[in-house]
Amino acid sequence: MILVTGGTGLVGAHLLYHLLKNDEKIRAIYRSKERINEVKKVFSFYTDDTSLISKIEWFKADITDVPSMIPAFVNIEKVYHCAAFISFNPRDYREMRKVNIHGTAIIVNLSIDAKVKKLCFVGSIASVGDSLNGELITEENEWNKELDNSGYSITKFGGEMEVWRASQEDVEVVIVNPGVILGSGFWFAGSGKLFSKVYNGFKYYTEGITGFVGVKDVVKVMILLMNSDVKNERFILVSENKSYKEIFFLIADAFGKKRPSIKINSWQTNILWRISSVLSLCTRKEPLLGKNSAKSAHEISKYSSEKIKNTINFQFEEIEMVVKETFTNYED
Ligand SMILES: NC(=O)c1ccc[n+]([C@@H]2O[C@H](COP(=O)([O-])OP(=O)(O)OC[C@H]3O[C@@H](n4cnc5c(N)ncnc54)[C@H](OP(=O)(O)O)[C@@H]3O)[C@@H](O)[C@H]2O)c1
Repeated sequence: MILVTGGTGLVGAHLLYHLLKNDEKIRAIYRSKERINEVKKVFSFYTDDTSLISKIEWFKADITDVPSMIPAFVNIEKVYHCAAFISFNPRDYREMRKVNIHGTAIIVNLSIDAKVKKLCFVGSIASVGDSLNGELITEENEWNKELDNSGYSITKFGGEMEVWRASQEDVEVVIVNPGVILGSGFWFAGSGKLFSKVYNGFKYYTEGITGFVGVKDVVKVMILLMNSDVKNERFILVSENKSYKEIFFLIADAFGKKRPSIKINSWQTNILWRISSVLSLCTRKEPLLGKNSAKSAHEISKYSSEKIKNTINFQFEEIEMVVKETFTNYED
């Protein structure tokens, strides 16, 4: 049997559908029943068969709570660990450490105890090092703790370190490090906000560049890796390196909406994040723009996916196609 964490999130929900399609027996962790409705929505993008979701054994647990997680590992052979807390609000740092590092350590310890055969961990390009010489970033680029990293990046790196520990204890591991993941569902959270913001007339863009990938490709690669002999390796998953401007324009064009027209320079975001952090101190609300988000909006980071392409002979869907398909499922 397969255990999936984070099944009520973007990656996990798409993964659950693809695993079910392969007739796998699945146990999936959830924290609240309402979130299972989001998974139903994602399934509806693929199929009219509303009974499919009932084939999943839903298991209520929190990955940071050992007693709730122990029974989840009974009869488990493979684990897909997608759960994480994603935030760029400095106030969430402690909670992110708890979920992304401590929670992953718990998954690793229980996988070792339960003699799980293979563990797939969803990391991030946020825990891959920068390019020093302008060359494409590969899996070999070392993450540098001396840099001004975001809390998210620090905790995803910490989680990945826990997973490598499993590989020393007879659990085979595969780690995927996706770029920004685009796909249908969860429109008002995480990367889904790129779609809802542009749909609602967002006017601004920056020219920073990063890696993007479709959610279907992410989960397909995860399953291929888990069903292969590949072990104890990490893989960057990026279909294309694109600027935020290009992505916003692609989304606006797909929606038939006006393209964002106001370019924001780094000095403007520098002022904005400072103002919004002062405002957030007064209002106790999440800052409109955090320091690290402001920085990454202008950074140029280009990634290579040659390793995964060569290892399992995988071809990624073009981002323009991913955006067009995602648009067809959009609900405001
Ligand atoms: N989205 C991206 O662009 C992107 C890019 C690169 C890497 N990633 C990585 O991909 C993975 C999946 O991301 P996503 O976009 O699918 O995130 P998401 O939509 O925010 O989903 C996060 C999932 O983690 C679960 N979770 C959080 N804290 C938990 C806890 N304490 N116990 C149990 N479950 C918990 C959430 O459960 P609830 O539903 O109960 O909240 C949800 O199912 C993460 O590891 C993320 O770091 C994402």
